Amino acid sequence: MAECKVENIRKGFTLRPATVDDIPGLFKIETEVSPFPWSSKQFAESLRNHRSFVLCKGNRLVGFLIFNQVLDEAELLNIAVKTSFQGEGLGASLLDYCLAEIAATALSLFLEVRVSNFPAIALYEGRGFRHVGERKAYYHGENGREDAWIMRCDLSHA
Ligand SMILES: CC(C)(COP(=O)(O)OP(=O)(O)OC[C@H]1O[C@@H](n2cnc3c(N)ncnc32)[C@H](O)[C@@H]1OP(=O)(O)O)[C@@H](O)C(=O)NCCC(=O)NCCS
Repeated sequence: MAECKVENIRKGFTLRPATVDDIPGLFKIETEVSPFPWSSKQFAESLRNHRSFVLCKGNRLVGFLIFNQVLDEAELLNIAVKTSFQGEGLGASLLDYCLAEIAATALSLFLEVRVSNFPAIALYEGRGFRHVGERKAYYHGENGREDAWIMRCDLSHA
């Protein structure tokens, strides 16, 4: 079996690469925190194609982080913390892990976020992301379609 690197990103919490066995747990957290959740199939595809990690407290999945990098451009594809664990700095720790992982090789980290997702936008702005564009009617919304903000974190350390 391949070695599974486990990071202790916060006291009592570990981060490790996600496996197919985690898909039901990933989907469960996603349906809890997102109004229009990714499907299990999307998580399975992410496991195959992207860098996917699960945040655990003991054996319990409490969050996840999925990102991708092509040459010097990285993209944050999904990040979530189980509702009962939100507001404790875990989302920031996940994002910091992503930024540290790509720091040596990426110049930019991009993401898309719903314009109404104030907690996530605050998290991103606090970590240096800036609004660089929009995708109109990009997401399904409660009342029709909803715009996405495109945000970028500059990692070019000029
Ligand atoms: C976005 C998310 C990952 C943040 O996780 P978290 O563990 O609660 O965040 P943290 O406790 O690390 O907070 C980090 C920062 O985020 C912002 N933030 C978090 N929750 C917030 C809230 N309810 N309201 C406003 N800002 C909030 C704050 O700027 C906070 O920094 P501060 O504590 O210095 O004020 C979490 O809310 C979540 O899982 N949301 C649902 C999934 C989602 O929307 N993912 C993003 C998809 S683009």
